[in-house]
Amino acid sequence: MTSPVSFSKRGAIGIVNVNNQPVNALSQAVRQGIQDCVNEGAADAAVTAIIIIGEGRTYMAGADITEFGKPPMDPSLHAVIETIEDTKKPVISAIHGTALGGGLETALACHYRCAVASAKVGLPEVNLGILPGAGGTQRLPRLVGVEKALDMMTTGKPIGAKEALAQGVIDHIVDGDLLDGAVAYAEQVVAEGKPLVRVQDLEDKVAPARGNDDIYENYRKSVARRTRGFFAPDQIIDCVKDAVNLPFAEGLKMERERFVKCMTSPQAAGLMYAFFTERAANKIPDIPRDTPLRDLNKVGIIGCGTMGGGIAMNFASAGIPVTILEMSEEALDRGLGIIKGNYAATVKKGRLSQDRMDAAMGNITGTSNYEDLSDVDMVIEAVFEEMDVKHKVFARLDEVCKPGTILATNTSGLDVNEIADGTSRPGDVVGLHFFSPANVMRLLEVVRGAKTEKDVLATVMKMTKSIGKIGVMVGVCEGFVGNRMLGPYLREANFLIEEGATPAQVDAAVFNLGLAMGPFTMSDLAGNDVGWRIRKGKAGERRNDVRYSDVGDRICEQGWFGQKTKRGWYIYEEGSRTPKPDPEVEAIIRQSAKENGIAQRDISDQEIIERCFYSMVNEGAKILEEGMAIRASDIDVIWLNGYGFPSYRGGPMMWGDTEGLANVVDRLKHYQAEHPGPFWEISPLLIRLASEGKTFADYDKE
Ligand code: CAA
Repeated sequence: MTSPVSFSKRGAIGIVNVNNQPVNALSQAVRQGIQDCVNEGAADAAVTAIIIIGEGRTYMAGADITEFGKPPMDPSLHAVIETIEDTKKPVISAIHGTALGGGLETALACHYRCAVASAKVGLPEVNLGILPGAGGTQRLPRLVGVEKALDMMTTGKPIGAKEALAQGVIDHIVDGDLLDGAVAYAEQVVAEGKPLVRVQDLEDKVAPARGNDDIYENYRKSVARRTRGFFAPDQIIDCVKDAVNLPFAEGLKMERERFVKCMTSPQAAGLMYAFFTERAANKIPDIPRDTPLRDLNKVGIIGCGTMGGGIAMNFASAGIPVTILEMSEEALDRGLGIIKGNYAATVKKGRLSQDRMDAAMGNITGTSNYEDLSDVDMVIEAVFEEMDVKHKVFARLDEVCKPGTILATNTSGLDVNEIADGTSRPGDVVGLHFFSPANVMRLLEVVRGAKTEKDVLATVMKMTKSIGKIGVMVGVCEGFVGNRMLGPYLREANFLIEEGATPAQVDAAVFNLGLAMGPFTMSDLAGNDVGWRIRKGKAGERRNDVRYSDVGDRICEQGWFGQKTKRGWYIYEEGSRTPKPDPEVEAIIRQSAKENGIAQRDISDQEIIERCFYSMVNEGAKILEEGMAIRASDIDVIWLNGYGFPSYRGGPMMWGDTEGLANVVDRLKHYQAEHPGPFWEISPLLIRLASEGKTFADYDKE
């Protein structure tokens, strides 16, 4: 087998070239290859310095995650790093793309690092539930100091080459071709007789912090909100403390111990699952990867309200010209003003340059004339959620758009097939369910209609990535996948308070599972009136033999719509967003229970979790058996990225697996017996998996 790493020479400079595309992950063969090639360079008397460089789109993006959990194979990354650091000739990393995780740790073992200006470096292991386990926690603080190292490793966010230079992570920025520049830099290092810098020997950035252990406790407190529930950040902070206070070798030993603790924690399994499933979601089994794509050079948006404006920003920011159509000049001006305001706020926060804002705004054109959409490659409709309105819009689009234009609807509740069938080109129609705020939320449900053409889907799935979204394909059903699963969760939350739990108790149980907030806090934040109006509209369809909780209606009848009215499920003091339990709400709940003949009792947190989430898992199974989602893992991607399910649990379906599907089915049967009726009908798929001792992960492999 040929090695993915090769050694060559340019004059007196040895070049270790890593070619393990797509991301040059540090697999066993790569580790072996680097070690062999560095040794070859070291042994070659004609070589004065050695460069390590990656082929393709990036330097090394880290350890090979697919090797995790398998028996370790020599050489370890530690051994490779030791070889590099102990080499008696300058070893220099030449970085482009991303040097991440073990990739950056390899670079930190080099005596010098150079990079192109577009390169990024970081230690993102925390996102996988682990910590930099190849010396990163010990070397990075020695280069950038305690605070910066803590920030980089607990957020996992990479930094750009310019900042890396200022912080001392890299030593030199190369203009033009990386290899040419790196060779010139290596020759300079040799010519100037620069020392062999071993990062482990550096002292000046860590010495001032020695003995000052308050730093770590203060840091823990300052990030507590962001890191709540996560295991690895605390371990990283402990490692940095050791980097400061212990000799390097001892710190490294502690890093190793904590790395193993993280790696064997269920959180690492959940977060690594999240990493791979996000990428799997983009692959659609019946759509070949080489499906020819349609052009997507110009986009039209119908409607410049909150949704339309947010959607437009995604394209404008990605450099794709957008034409936004609104019927009145006034609405258009208002909408464009909001877009501008959103960009300006991001510039003010320092997260966007003025130049980039100007470029994005320059990509947006407003119009009130449908004819201006005649040359766009895709139109996304974001108008009022009413079928008649949608039909009218699509009829106009059918008239003006050129053949082949993708016609997308941003509906969150209407039947995409019905919208498609109202046009002469249903194959070009697709649903694009953006989540609000559409310029921020990464999730995008791509709704596949019965007649949507495969090349439309392939084009749209590719597009999701290019505008920075995570696209998940779903089928046409009420609420699609995400909102459909919200149904049983909210229903049970409402029933539970009728039966004796308080909103605060339900919210606390959900919060403790790791979600950002429980259903009642969420409802107060979003506005209770929205759901109320929808429920009122559907009152005529309600069945008398099916349980219905009217507590939410009673709250809204008081005018208590949530945070915006200072009262909702909770009461809010002036200027505060902190929900306080409201005795009057609790009285309304008791009254409603009494009038509806529901006995109140003590309810355990365990029951809250089971009823809210086992019912959700059951709904997920129904979604799968109906083919509305391709994989259980796709459902998890939706719930992680659109609904704040804790990523370290993988998602509701993986969580169901860890709870044990047989156990889930047992409990569902229990609730079915207690609450007869349609709500607790158990999915046949779930019953089958449970009886075969299988998991949703097994189902995905079937
Ligand atoms: N190991 C194995 N496979 C990896 C990988 C890794 N570290 N990183 C990416 N891949 C795979 C992806 O799964 C994907 O595979 P498919 O095409 O089959 O889906 C492929 O490489 C391309 O990845 P992306 O689609 O993500 O490509 P991108 O260009 O959008 O992003 C990237 C590239 C920024 C490097 C991104 O892949 C990424 O963030 N990778 C993970 C980086 C990371 O977490 N590194 C730390 C690893 S842990 C470690 O190093 C521990 C240690 O201390 C030793």
